[in-house]
Amino acid sequence: MVRILTAAEFEKQITRLAEILIDAVDSGAGVSFMKPLARDVAEDFWRGQISGIAAQKTFPIVAELDGTIAGLVLLMRAWAPNQPHRCDVAKLLVHRDFRRRGVATALMQALEDKAKALKQSLITFDAVANSPASRFYQKLGFICVGTYPNFAYSGDGKLDDTALFYKEI
Ligand SMILES: CC(C)(COP(=O)(O)OP(=O)(O)OC[C@H]1O[C@@H](n2cnc3c(N)ncnc32)[C@H](O)[C@@H]1OP(=O)(O)O)[C@@H](O)C(=O)NCCC(=O)NCCS
Repeated sequence: MVRILTAAEFEKQITRLAEILIDAVDSGAGVSFMKPLARDVAEDFWRGQISGIAAQKTFPIVAELDGTIAGLVLLMRAWAPNQPHRCDVAKLLVHRDFRRRGVATALMQALEDKAKALKQSLITFDAVANSPASRFYQKLGFICVGTYPNFAYSGDGKLDDTALFYKEI
């Protein structure tokens, strides 16, 4: 159900991944983009990840249910040469049709497993403060070190604080 895609597999799924990103923005999530998110912009965003996937800097983890990609997350290794032990979490997205069924939990477990296999010892990322996503990460044991005020606009156009998370593994 949960697996890591190769660059070629990822490219074949760009239409579905764009649907999932558009759905997240439509749902009001703060995931880099404003509402409405055009299909070509969403597809270009995913296409821009392919070189990092091919270089094994980015690992796209997808969850499939009933033969459909229900959600995904990107494990992104830190680019900096002095941080070979650190990776980021990006674009944890579960389509609304599949939420509250443990999909994101399974994705984050797979991400931690892959991070350990890559000998990563620190996972970092940020999320909209006081959001369902922040509550989700806290439930999974990620530690919030604080917030940036008024950091980014949500898909709905409201300025949100951003919470900074980490976990040592
Ligand atoms: C946040 C998100 C990834 C959670 O995905 P999911 O597959 O529904 O999560 P899970 O089913 O694994 O949830 C596990 C637990 O997290 C918590 N949780 C998940 N969604 C929640 C919500 N909307 N409100 C409060 N708690 C929530 C609950 O404790 C839940 O357990 P429960 O269902 O038994 O109560 C999903 O809502 C999403 O894609 N949101 C839009 C995109 C986004 O904000 N991504 C994060 C970017 S940083």
